[in-house]
Amino acid sequence: MLDKESLKILSEALEKLDAGFAALPEFDARVPGSKGIVETLAETAERLQNNYPYFHPLYAGQMLKPPHPVARLAYALAQWINPNNHALDGGRATSAMEREAVAQIAEMFGWRDHLGHLCGGGTAANLEALWVAGQLAPGKKVLASEQAHYTHARISGVLQLPFAAVPCDAHGRIDIAKLRHLLAQGEVGTVVATMGTTATGSVDPLAQILELREKHGFRVHADAAYGGYFGLAANLGAEVRCEFDSLHLVDSIVIDPHKHGLQPYGCGCVVFRDPGVGRLYKHDSPATYFSSREQHLGEISLECSRPGASAAARGATQKRLPLAKGGEFARGLDDGRAAALDLHQRLQNDERFVTAFPPELDIVVFAPRAASVSESSGRSRQIFEAAARRNLHLAVAGLPVEFFQANLGAMKKDRNSLTCLRSVLMKPEHKEWIGRIWEILSDATDEVVGKR
Ligand SMILES: Cc1ncc(COP(=O)(O)O)c(C=O)c1O
Repeated sequence: MLDKESLKILSEALEKLDAGFAALPEFDARVPGSKGIVETLAETAERLQNNYPYFHPLYAGQMLKPPHPVARLAYALAQWINPNNHALDGGRATSAMEREAVAQIAEMFGWRDHLGHLCGGGTAANLEALWVAGQLAPGKKVLASEQAHYTHARISGVLQLPFAAVPCDAHGRIDIAKLRHLLAQGEVGTVVATMGTTATGSVDPLAQILELREKHGFRVHADAAYGGYFGLAANLGAEVRCEFDSLHLVDSIVIDPHKHGLQPYGCGCVVFRDPGVGRLYKHDSPATYFSSREQHLGEISLECSRPGASAAARGATQKRLPLAKGGEFARGLDDGRAAALDLHQRLQNDERFVTAFPPELDIVVFAPRAASVSESSGRSRQIFEAAARRNLHLAVAGLPVEFFQANLGAMKKDRNSLTCLRSVLMKPEHKEWIGRIWEILSDATDEVVGKR
């Protein structure tokens, strides 16, 4: 994990940064509590050991991976300035970096004209997208699938917009027939299409949702917090490819650079197709917007103070890894997805497991075969623990039994929800490590269900 070369690079970059302020008179910085920093940091490091090894390929549980080294360094470098991207007074350079970074993200979605900015994460970004939607269609309903992120219902509550969850099909995607039924009842302002659900990475049938928009005239918001970068991937299934090819037609998109974009936490992004929605943010802040007539990022975002360091990190990462099809970044997505397909295949060929539908992105869900759904659920937890004892870290999820229906065989359906194992294979290294992951999983399963 320790990369001494990084510290050398950071030190050189800091000298460069310092040189830009050489004309200022020297001063003695007053740093209260500076004695004992070494000991406190050592204690902090010790406490931080109490974490799963998110950086290692044997961590294959939740949506977690380390930031790119250049993101980490650019973020740290910016801390010596601590810019605030709310206004140009607080972060001139990083505001420019943010605009460039967001323009590249918008361009990845095929948008030259756009309005957007970075923010704290997917929840803050979705809040903003639904806030705009609610301003444009006050009091109208928000619809999202039962597998959409749980925060959509909560956000709608905060915004005092009515919310309804649309049931999913057997692949965890919004059920179009059920959506059509709800639309027929009227009063729908926004439909959220999830481009990669949190639990299974399922991609909603966006092309069909857009067709329904023609008739019903609602806004389409794409929650691509997790899956947004997969439009660059070369190995998507034909159906999913088609959904990503329609993404440029939605009204707003949320994507999380802190998920697949190799950024430290605290980096979400919301982009609107119509820059005209900027008028909805209109407010006056004579204390912060006096230094420049140019637009300040705080004038087009709900949040006030925001870390300019996020923009420095995101900008530096996109410089090293442009958001291009066929590029190095895109190949990393392909590798994670290849790992997921490989694991799914191995599970499908092994009678000890029950699989769900094939992964649409890079998330695999599966459960041990047992006499009943409740027995399988209990064993999933035991395998999770047995794998963790062997340093393989998976996740568990409670999912509708219908997702596994096609492969349940004689398993008694005594519950509607199956607690299954879930693996997010989002690191490029997972492709090479899938053999080792499989060996450990197999061994842990033998411990729980007995040797074959
Ligand atoms: C599809 C989706 N939307 C929204 C979110 C919320 O994002 P955040 O945790 O960055 O607030 C998540 C988080 O996993 C997600 O998977």
